Amino acid sequence: EKGGHKHFMAKEIAEQPTVLSDALSHYLSGDTIDLPDAVPDFATIDRIVMVACGTAYLACATAKYWIERMAGIPVEVDIASEFRYREPPIGPNTLAIFVSQSGETADTLAALRHVAEKAQILSVVNVAESSIARESDVALPILAGAEIGVASTKAFTCQLLVLLLLALRAGTDRGRLAPETLAETLEGLRTLPGRMNQALQTSDRIAKVARKLAEADDILFLGRGQMYPLALEGALKLKEISYIHAEGYASGELKHGPIALVDRTVPVIVMAPHDALFDKTVSNMQEVMARGGQIVFVTNSTGAAEAGDGAMAVIEMPDVPDVLAPILYAVPAQLLAYHTAIAKGTDVDQPRNLAKSVTVE
Ligand code: F6R
Repeated sequence: EKGGHKHFMAKEIAEQPTVLSDALSHYLSGDTIDLPDAVPDFATIDRIVMVACGTAYLACATAKYWIERMAGIPVEVDIASEFRYREPPIGPNTLAIFVSQSGETADTLAALRHVAEKAQILSVVNVAESSIARESDVALPILAGAEIGVASTKAFTCQLLVLLLLALRAGTDRGRLAPETLAETLEGLRTLPGRMNQALQTSDRIAKVARKLAEADDILFLGRGQMYPLALEGALKLKEISYIHAEGYASGELKHGPIALVDRTVPVIVMAPHDALFDKTVSNMQEVMARGGQIVFVTNSTGAAEAGDGAMAVIEMPDVPDVLAPILYAVPAQLLAYHTAIAKGTDVDQPRNLAKSVTVE
């Protein structure tokens, strides 16, 4: 049942190229993004609210960068347990998007019911016959297959994929996304499963780095722009299965407080593909190095060549179009958490105090 892997989590991490490619075949026909007719025309939408918990929330936080950039629609992202007790102003042209692997998370379902009469409801779910799917105007399956490990892995990357397709559709509906950009991104998506396979090859190298991480009491994750939510996700994954205290920060926030924590004992994981914000993130990374911080630098070959010197470890990712980096770099984030937990000897599939589906408030 674990397909030759020691843990469901390892199996589910390794399955990502396959499930992403299944999801791509489901949603793409040629250069057309095939979505159900009930998905609204984004030209009629003037605001989007996205609501979820945990890892699903971090998929939403990533999608905000995509939707705002490609479609120019303001996006607000909220944690379900907060949203359900606020009175969020919802106009007639608001689209509310709920993201949930299980489709049964109590807070997310309550948040959906909180606005069901007022907003159009779209959900992104793994379990197609779940309560959240049933109570939505339209539900988009992420097609990740059953996810057994408590820590979400393949569901996260499949959520990102479906949300990216929605962002591309939104940009197209609003006439803001150049057809060439769309074509390039779709082309990049077709090569993504292969790139993910390459990313999975870093597993042994990450296992070595993880033996050092396992000795730490605190670990920081840094990212900027669309990589910031992934820094949060890396920290969430690591703390939930290795029980090491970890925090993610927007790298520009470092000097506003958290840099006070940095010394030789605090490893800092930097998620930085060589994109438009690379130099900014690298300058934050150098501030950490200057204070003795031990860097694990996750980047591509250009990034490694330009700025890898002085890092404790460099984890090299293959090149992908910039917009796809959060999906690809999720793999090393997951592997860092997995191998650190293994080095610590914790139960990665059933971490203490956690349940796979949180059906109580
Ligand atoms: C973290 C994790 C949780 C879930 C969260 C939402 O690895 O798995 O944070 O993402 O409980 O669950 P769903 O997506 O089922 O609503």
